[in-house]
Amino acid sequence: MQLQDRVAVITGGASGIARATCMSLAREGLRAIGVVDVSDDVFSACEQGNRELEREVLIPFKGDVTNTEFRRAVFGEVVKRFGPVHICVPAAGIVRDALAVKVDEAGRPILYDEHLFRKVIEVNLLAPIYWALESIATIAADRARRGLGRWEPEQRVQGTIIFIGSISSSGNRGQISYATTKAGLEGAQSTLAKEAIYHGVRCAIIHPGFTDTPMVRAMDQRYIREKILPQTQLRRLLRPEEIAEAIVFMIRNSATSGALWVDAGWHPPA
Ligand SMILES: NC(=O)c1ccc[n+]([C@@H]2O[C@H](COP(=O)([O-])OP(=O)(O)OC[C@H]3O[C@@H](n4cnc5c(N)ncnc54)[C@H](O)[C@@H]3O)[C@@H](O)[C@H]2O)c1
Repeated sequence: MQLQDRVAVITGGASGIARATCMSLAREGLRAIGVVDVSDDVFSACEQGNRELEREVLIPFKGDVTNTEFRRAVFGEVVKRFGPVHICVPAAGIVRDALAVKVDEAGRPILYDEHLFRKVIEVNLLAPIYWALESIATIAADRARRGLGRWEPEQRVQGTIIFIGSISSSGNRGQISYATTKAGLEGAQSTLAKEAIYHGVRCAIIHPGFTDTPMVRAMDQRYIREKILPQTQLRRLLRPEEIAEAIVFMIRNSATSGALWVDAGWHPPA
């Protein structure tokens, strides 16, 4: 897909992988990128990014991706100012790790907290799907307004969605909620890949390995250093820019479909 002058919405853009993706896409000549995050840092991230890029391409939106009104307001404003949203990378995510079932000192079993599970599903699974649907809807509405029905190959690709999965999508100890949401995104991706192409929109998923972001820095560093990194081909954390570069490739190359694993060869052991 040609990237020049396109419009994007990226969630989680105040930090890590999504922030790097905003910068990489902006350098490809996008017209505008709605950068969404629940953190105040979204303002400084956009300000700093625009200064580096020497143009006002990153537009901050502060709010919670699970809030439907907020989501609609973001798309409403972006469409009003720039037109349909061609690219959506709904990357905002959280980890809330704990064993599925453990036994306390008195021998009582403790199940993973159900409220926490619902929260992770809201943020990591439902929200990315609905931000993607909203983006596809802007293209569908625009095409309907122009009297266009089913997309035809001679029309240029209209849009691309990239979900952010994880190596944990294939199951990882201590990550019952996170792994479930990341595996769930595969179902959404493969369904949308079949449905959204009606409107000319492609949909794919990237599965990053351990990447050097605040999310990973909050984990047990000794465990990562001693148990995980030696098992990876690169023996270091991946850089957010490496994941961003792969995302840009997936958007640009319309022949890519399905999943791309960007994990330096690490997969969760039994
Ligand atoms: N870092 C890794 O190793 C790794 C590996 C695989 C997948 N991922 C995925 O990549 C994505 C980005 O992760 P990251 O490592 O860059 O993490 P990060 O913590 O650096 O960034 C996540 C961003 O999402 C925002 N966010 C969280 N909940 C939100 C909400 N409800 N509404 C709006 N914004 C919210 C946070 O404020 C933060 O800025 C996530 O989906 C994560 O699951 C990360």
